[in-house]
Amino acid sequence: MSEPVIIAVDGPAASGKGTLARRLAAHFDYAYLDTGSLYRALAYDVLRRGEAPENASAGLRAAKALDLAMLNDPDILAALRTDAVGTAASLVAAQPDTRAAILQIQRDIADTPPDDKAGAVLDGRDIGTIVCPQAAHKIFVTARAEIRAERRWQELHQHDPQVSLEDVLADLKARDQRDSERATAPMRAAQDAHLLDTSDLSIEEAFAAALALVSH
Ligand code: CDP
Repeated sequence: MSEPVIIAVDGPAASGKGTLARRLAAHFDYAYLDTGSLYRALAYDVLRRGEAPENASAGLRAAKALDLAMLNDPDILAALRTDAVGTAASLVAAQPDTRAAILQIQRDIADTPPDDKAGAVLDGRDIGTIVCPQAAHKIFVTARAEIRAERRWQELHQHDPQVSLEDVLADLKARDQRDSERATAPMRAAQDAHLLDTSDLSIEEAFAAALALVSH
């Protein structure tokens, strides 16, 4: 069998990378992995046990115990999407040993996509740089912070009417800064990544642009 085709989609919070990655995977019939959900799952576990997300040994314990099956449960998936879990995920994700513990899980899915798929689309922060530097296609998705905050607010507001746009914007900026300044696997566009700014694009337009980038 030929090597699976890997598409790496990285970018900051609410840039639209998840939607694009999912659409690309469906279009090519490739496997899809939202690597952020792995860090969110660790954070959720750490918080549920009353431990501090800054505590590196708590993150590492959660990584060693990670059960991917939990990501098939719609209730857990919904619980992972809160702003609090996103912030805790970025604290857990800054810990080198915790990142190392889940690196292989991500590479295994890229190297051997489930269901014999011919390729895999992974989205995250370090897919093009660290997890799959050999990816055939790399896209770094961006959008202006205010636009990303508005998108995330729309998403969070459906479940929590109390959430304010100002708080979402502040959390998103703090998370971007932590993700891009951490020492291990910081969020960064790979040198050979295509940049895609979705600020002024509809989902359809962004998808068409992404498709054009991976089709040559
Ligand atoms: O959906 P959103 O873009 O808000 O975040 P996410 O992709 O679910 O990721 C949550 C957090 O996990 C990020 O803020 C990062 O700190 C971390 N993460 C990471 O460090 N590396 C990845 N490959 C994916 C996520």
